[in-house]
Amino acid sequence: MTSQKFRVVSHRDAYRFAFDSLTKQGVSGSDAKNTAEGLVDADLCGVDTHGIQRIPIYCQRLELGLISANPRITVDNITPVCAHIDGDDGLGFVVATKAVEVATDRAKDFGFAISGIKRSTHFGMARFYIQQVVDSGFAAIVMTNASPSLPPWGSKRPIFGTSPIAIGFPNPSGENHFLLDMAPSVAARGKIRKAMRAGERIPEGWALDAEGRHTTDPSEAVKGVVLPIGGPKGSGIAMALDIFSGLITGAGFAGAVGDQLKVFDRPQNVGHFIFVLNPEIFVGPDEYKARFLEWELSVVNAPPAEGVKRVYLPGQIETENKKERLVKGIPYLEKDVQALNEFADECGIPPLTC
Ligand SMILES: NC(=O)c1ccc[n+]([C@@H]2O[C@H](COP(=O)([O-])OP(=O)(O)OC[C@H]3O[C@@H](n4cnc5c(N)ncnc54)[C@H](O)[C@@H]3O)[C@@H](O)[C@H]2O)c1
Repeated sequence: MTSQKFRVVSHRDAYRFAFDSLTKQGVSGSDAKNTAEGLVDADLCGVDTHGIQRIPIYCQRLELGLISANPRITVDNITPVCAHIDGDDGLGFVVATKAVEVATDRAKDFGFAISGIKRSTHFGMARFYIQQVVDSGFAAIVMTNASPSLPPWGSKRPIFGTSPIAIGFPNPSGENHFLLDMAPSVAARGKIRKAMRAGERIPEGWALDAEGRHTTDPSEAVKGVVLPIGGPKGSGIAMALDIFSGLITGAGFAGAVGDQLKVFDRPQNVGHFIFVLNPEIFVGPDEYKARFLEWELSVVNAPPAEGVKRVYLPGQIETENKKERLVKGIPYLEKDVQALNEFADECGIPPLTC
């Protein structure tokens, strides 16, 4: 493994960089704020494949009109608990945040609600949306589809995305919520691109090359496919995410979602599916609280296996990263900072300060 140099940037400066870049492209202040917060949140959590290094490609697509800077997002109330949302090719952060708000509002009245979203774009780290829901005391399942990179099990043709599913339940103590956020691939594609930028090999079992052979070379892996977790089981989950997010919502599906890094003749047409539930609906608030706390303790106090220091809840490592990085700053690869600062120069905005 190559030794890497890092530069530490404060979350405030990372936010300022993202906000300025987006407003330069005509994105409104409130939408730029939402997107910049989502990107910096990913960097704070340590999900740096989905942080501010995505800004140049978002801005390029905004400039080309492939992402709408000022989308007219429409909400069609199919039933009191089911909203169909047309994102008008807006930034995925803005579209998905709107969809979360709509579903959470309805769930307050009806106990649960769903939003199905078409004509959206890449929405970054899925945790950003379940966090918004658990912060208001509700549980959520958030799904998206993505451009093709993962094959149906047994094939070498990419058809499905490494699209994540995120599931959140609020911890009534206010801390340590259940925040599972996972792609059905062994590794997110961003991790393969990160290894390529860093000049590192990827582990065996992450990807096949274009000929369908196992590879540890990230530059061959990006020409091939990423492998699902658990073989046919992960591939089946990727298919289900594509059905929920794409097939039933009217968004692209079965390979039709455009790759934001490669397809420049049309918008992406990403789909999302959001389910919000009042977690107290069956047992009431007091019993939910008692049962959740008992459940949490049973997990975090489970005895560690050999070689393991501590047992975590899903999302806990990212939450702890965030606490630390809010204070100490965010370490970015020096190469990534250089690239972002060249971009800042082209845009006429101040560079990141390290
Ligand atoms: N928008 C998109 O199209 C897209 C596509 C792919 C991935 N992503 C994002 O990329 C990110 C990375 O995805 P990933 O699948 O590589 O995530 P990951 O493998 O790093 O983590 C998956 C889950 O496992 C949990 N986890 C990890 N180690 C743990 C431990 N020791 N104990 C308990 N829980 C643990 C994490 O908290 C997380 O909830 C996610 O935020 C995802 O939303 C987005």
